[in-house]
Amino acid sequence: MIRTNTCGDLTIKNIGQEVILQGWVAKVRKMGGLTFVDLRDRYGITQLNVGEELNDKKDFLKNEYVIQVHGKVIERKSKNLEIKTGEIEIEVKDLILINKSELTPFEIKNNIEANEETRLTYRYLDLRRYEVQNKLIMRSKMNFIIRNFFNQQDFIEIETPVFGKSTPEGARDFLVPSRLNPQKFYALPQSPQLYKQLFMISGFDKYFQIVKCFRDEDLRIDRQPEFTQLDMEMGFATSNDVMNTIENVIKEIFSKLKGIEIKEPIPTMSYKESFEKYGNDKPDLRFGYEINCLDKIFKNTEIPLFSNLENKTIRAICVNGLLNKKELETLNETSKQNSVNILAFAKYDSKEWSGSIGSKFSDNEKNEIIKHFNIENEVTVLFVVEEYEKALKAIGAVRSHVGKLQNLCDPNEYKLLWITDFPLFEWSDEEERYVAAHHPFTMPSDDTLENFDKDKENAKAKAYDIVLNGFEIGGGSQRITDPNIQQRMFDAVGLTSQQVEQNFGWFVNAYKYGAPYHSGCALGLDRIIMLLTQAENIREVIAFPKNSSGIDPMTNAPDNVTDKQLNELHIKTQ
Ligand code: AMO
Repeated sequence: MIRTNTCGDLTIKNIGQEVILQGWVAKVRKMGGLTFVDLRDRYGITQLNVGEELNDKKDFLKNEYVIQVHGKVIERKSKNLEIKTGEIEIEVKDLILINKSELTPFEIKNNIEANEETRLTYRYLDLRRYEVQNKLIMRSKMNFIIRNFFNQQDFIEIETPVFGKSTPEGARDFLVPSRLNPQKFYALPQSPQLYKQLFMISGFDKYFQIVKCFRDEDLRIDRQPEFTQLDMEMGFATSNDVMNTIENVIKEIFSKLKGIEIKEPIPTMSYKESFEKYGNDKPDLRFGYEINCLDKIFKNTEIPLFSNLENKTIRAICVNGLLNKKELETLNETSKQNSVNILAFAKYDSKEWSGSIGSKFSDNEKNEIIKHFNIENEVTVLFVVEEYEKALKAIGAVRSHVGKLQNLCDPNEYKLLWITDFPLFEWSDEEERYVAAHHPFTMPSDDTLENFDKDKENAKAKAYDIVLNGFEIGGGSQRITDPNIQQRMFDAVGLTSQQVEQNFGWFVNAYKYGAPYHSGCALGLDRIIMLLTQAENIREVIAFPKNSSGIDPMTNAPDNVTDKQLNELHIKTQ
């Protein structure tokens, strides 16, 4: 290495030292005969003081040119105490051009206005910016913390194949055609689920892996087609053992990355409670506004919308303050997007009720509502009337939206939560039958084990998700290890023995050879970093992400391939 120091190193303690620095020209300011330059590398910025004697080399001092300087560390006249190197500068004695740069499509600095497509097209320049670099540096630190943690606990990191067989995990698979085996396809793993279960049978009772997973799903702010999991599985272990281990690694990540010590156990809530209070299974607990059932209050009402409920229910949230017309309109839109057309509202102000429904309350209803929500100041109560699931989903979405409208989510506050007791099955309208809610290898809960295949609607799973600020950051379950229970499960989801044999006979077979009971979990590492760095979306924390259409604007992948390539793969496109 020629450089003696990085651009983030030098302080007042180094005054008088002769140094060589290399980096990018970040900023040039001319003051009289002197030129001041900010030299940047990933460690920081050091100010250069370039005198007139180097006038013939001043052409090298242009933004993003790569240069090397040799000089002496001196004390600065006007200091910048906000950065580590802010008390010194380099009195440059020699200056060498390493490489020139064209004008970059956007300035290399924080808070730029360039649109995301441009940033992704020139992602290597975007990655030169500190605010982007810091996110990847934090990822690197997190991976180190995780590996350290699991190594200390005697876990073994084992890699699993990327080219595998399609497995039943819920999302669509990405397929890779096999040249050597015409018309056959590998599937990229949605997760290493089945492999890690086999490791338990092999006797590796503590497995983990930081691993890429692939799912062909519609993209969202927290979803990418390829993403990274911390995957783990433990033999001779129940759900509680896994949840404890995951809890400890998460606490370690918070402590080491954010300096936040989480002392209390992470709270647990059943799926049912979460759905009834928040309308989803990943509630943001940074604010309240729990959903309430008001069926009783309006049992004898004369308000048309609230009467003759039949199979419908009235669910409401009570929001502080008086929402204005525009806010109510956007919330109504949210309700509509969730299949409920009317979001009724009542405003309470100076002891008076108004609003689409508030003006229609009877005196008794007014009193009951005030008592129910403990209302003292100005509030807006929002109501939906629909059948149970739709009503809760819609008012839950409205609740989340209000949280944003009223800025109730402090980005520096972190609320973790376990959701447990998930349904074992869910009804598929498409397939007109019950399908496994997680995957068909998830153990039914103790209290529904006897009847899970007869009473599918109420069957519960030994499954758990971990939620952070309204995002699911991980999930897992105890697995079925008893071949009889497994067979009942396959029967329950309508898989014939032929289908089982063809799709995962190889896997089921393994359970004939002595399987310990085992449980596991996977954390979505991209999502965790997105939340810890307060990034707007998951793309911000991935070095080379796909845009929201699944395209990489830099390489233009996915792209056409040649006819020759297709022929070799025995694929016809038309
Ligand atoms: P699950 O499907 O819940 O469980 O995935 C675990 C976690 O991975 C993250 N995740 C994603 N992150 C970004 N983009 C995506 N498309 C995406 N999909 C999932 C989420 C999620 O909580 N094999 C099981 C784990 C187990 O049972 O042990 C599994 O993959 O944060």
